[in-house]
Amino acid sequence: MTDKYAPQAEHWTETAYADPAGYLAHRAELVVSLGPRLEPGERVLDLACGDGGLAAFLPADYVGVDASPEMVAAARLRSVDAELADLNEYEPPEPVAATLCFRAIYYARDRRAFFEHVAGYTEKKFVFDLNPRQYRVGDVRADLEAAGFDRLELRPFLVPQTLALPRPLRTLAIALERNALARALLQARFTYVCAAFRGTKT
Ligand SMILES: C[S@@+](CC[C@H](N)C(=O)[O-])C[C@H]1O[C@@H](n2cnc3c(N)ncnc32)[C@H](O)[C@@H]1O
Repeated sequence: MTDKYAPQAEHWTETAYADPAGYLAHRAELVVSLGPRLEPGERVLDLACGDGGLAAFLPADYVGVDASPEMVAAARLRSVDAELADLNEYEPPEPVAATLCFRAIYYARDRRAFFEHVAGYTEKKFVFDLNPRQYRVGDVRADLEAAGFDRLELRPFLVPQTLALPRPLRTLAIALERNALARALLQARFTYVCAAFRGTKT
């Protein structure tokens, strides 16, 4: 299942993203700010972390997990703390403030069971991306609620993955994410970043 990533592992971040710093810095901003705020130094677990390229942009105590030995080796070469494990089974030794899962939610064997597993060790929020043309947001929300994540914040992510935008255009794209028009764009392209968390229901 992860064999296809082996040849790409060594240069994953540099080849998967046209503008790695612009793309990953914005992803990190949303990891921090969407849903309950992540505070500096809090523990973050990044499931299917790839080469852990996101770690450098997060002011967090970061650990990555990936099922590809080559990706884990590439992460360690970047001095990123990474472990070899399947996201469906991995359980951190201590609860974490936030769990992340980017471009990998489809590796959950049973999505509802996976969300329940994540909810068991995640204190603050679970942040992941979602292609609404691939999954119905309502179905995902129902699975999150069943796992105890009764609140969900969604933000269109309009920084392109395979096209490097000049800074003013990237700034404009990010500003557009809060505009109602952004949701229309998602019918054709782009993904949501989602933060799932527990509300204050009594
Ligand atoms: C498209 S890459 C995304 C990597 C990184 N999250 C990013 O956004 O750049 C998918 C990653 O999922 C990993 N993966 C695939 N199945 C997995 C599983 N069952 N458990 C953990 N990692 C898995 C692959 O090895 C690969 O590194």
